[in-house]
Amino acid sequence: MNESIFERNRAAWNEALAYHQKARNNALQLGFEDPEFSTLDRDCDGILMGMLDKIDLRGKTIAQLPCNNGRELLSLIRYFDANEALGIDISDAAIEEARQLAAIAGLNAQFLRTNLLELDDEYNHAFDFIYISEGSLQWFPDLDEYFAVITRLLKNDGQILIFEIHPFAYIKDASSYFDKGPYSYEEGLDYVGGVAYEAKECCWFMHRMSDILGALRRNRIEVLEFDEYGVEMANDPAFQGQDKLPLSYILTGKKK
Ligand SMILES: C[S@@+](CC[C@H](N)C(=O)[O-])C[C@H]1O[C@@H](n2cnc3c(N)ncnc32)[C@H](O)[C@@H]1O
Repeated sequence: MNESIFERNRAAWNEALAYHQKARNNALQLGFEDPEFSTLDRDCDGILMGMLDKIDLRGKTIAQLPCNNGRELLSLIRYFDANEALGIDISDAAIEEARQLAAIAGLNAQFLRTNLLELDDEYNHAFDFIYISEGSLQWFPDLDEYFAVITRLLKNDGQILIFEIHPFAYIKDASSYFDKGPYSYEEGLDYVGGVAYEAKECCWFMHRMSDILGALRRNRIEVLEFDEYGVEMANDPAFQGQDKLPLSYILTGKKK
């Protein structure tokens, strides 16, 4: 059953990439020609950069799972002055664009298209740092499976940073905070251009904050820092001006 969930999501994300690329109109391709270019310059990224400043990863090996089109990972390599990087994503179109952007930027990054839950042992204990960004965890029905992959990829004492949409921000698209789903986005996944389209079915899951913290603990990742913010990450008009709920969070952790 899960295999078909992942293949459906692969098709849905391939479809979405065409909308993202149309909305961006080659801005990333032109941007990465500039050695100073970074996509981590949105309003909400101030929080992220503050946290990254506490982590010295110069010359280290880093990864992002999932990485979409690699724009964040390429920006991070520059920011960290990292030695090498691996981005993994299930979408064929996203990985194709990531490889194109890496070539334009001239950065030492490899990109792999796979269901990350099926990643083979070749990458075990290879990474000093793994970055997990907004809209990543919801695609995995079982967070224990997801964090088991993260743990086996990390070196001992390797670190993670999660900069994610808060579970409370998903409630409006779910039937309840306590109902895991699966759910779908019938109007598509164009969080770049905001275009609604009749989308291929995808499957996403509602994870409570306790699910996330529990899965980290069970997979030997010690939480170092954790904070919640009212900052909205997904350009969702429904949350404009709201200041009652946490909409994003940052968590750093270390493999024990
Ligand atoms: C919202 S993006 C997250 C990355 C980044 N923050 C962004 O906004 O582009 C979600 C990504 O998860 C990928 N994805 C979903 N399920 C996956 C799986 N099982 N294995 C690897 N990648 C997956 C999708 O292809 C998509 O690129």
